[in-house]
Amino acid sequence: MLHSIDFMITQNNLVFKLISPKETYPVRHAILRAGKPLSSCKFDGDDLKTTLHIGAYQNGNLVGVATLLEAKNSAILDVNAYQLRGMAIHQDQQGKGLGKKIINYAETILQEKHVLLLWMNARESAIPFYTNCGYTKSGRIFDIEKVGPHVVMFKKLK
Ligand SMILES: CC(C)(COP(=O)(O)OP(=O)(O)OC[C@H]1O[C@@H](n2cnc3c(N)ncnc32)[C@H](O)[C@@H]1OP(=O)(O)O)[C@@H](O)C(=O)NCCC(=O)NCCS
Repeated sequence: MLHSIDFMITQNNLVFKLISPKETYPVRHAILRAGKPLSSCKFDGDDLKTTLHIGAYQNGNLVGVATLLEAKNSAILDVNAYQLRGMAIHQDQQGKGLGKKIINYAETILQEKHVLLLWMNARESAIPFYTNCGYTKSGRIFDIEKVGPHVVMFKKLK
């Protein structure tokens, strides 16, 4: 396995790297904003210098994306923290371990930056995935308009 902060190659022609905000749109649109205008794929904070966008490529094709936004969550822990946003794996590639590998890559990058906490507003349907990746629920389920029920989940990074 070859790894630097902005590039990682694993087995099976799978490459993880940092990409631009717009490069995330094909997967964001298909998986997270299906049927909505492409403009709905732009998230607040996408263009900040501190925001990181991860792309997973299988044989050169974009199969998964995730975004890391610098954002404290003092309700959990008042430390240097990032929020995971826009986590999505292409439909026909789900359930093959790719999501977990993206999370591992994200955690590695953040640990190298001395970030102490990663948290997310997890869709209810994705709670078992994040639990499997070592994340803990915090607080009650709440509704995000037009998207559905979510819960805050987090992991302390060492
Ligand atoms: C949620 C999502 C990112 C997970 O990625 P994925 O590549 O499908 O998940 P993985 O194959 O890496 O799963 C990792 C582990 O979590 C488990 N897992 C994943 N989803 C699960 C579920 N719904 N129930 C139980 N376990 C689950 C897997 O079995 C696997 O376990 P293992 O490591 O013991 O084999 C992906 O399915 C997706 O894009 N879903 C639609 C969009 C979405 O919900 N995004 C999250 C928004 S908060």
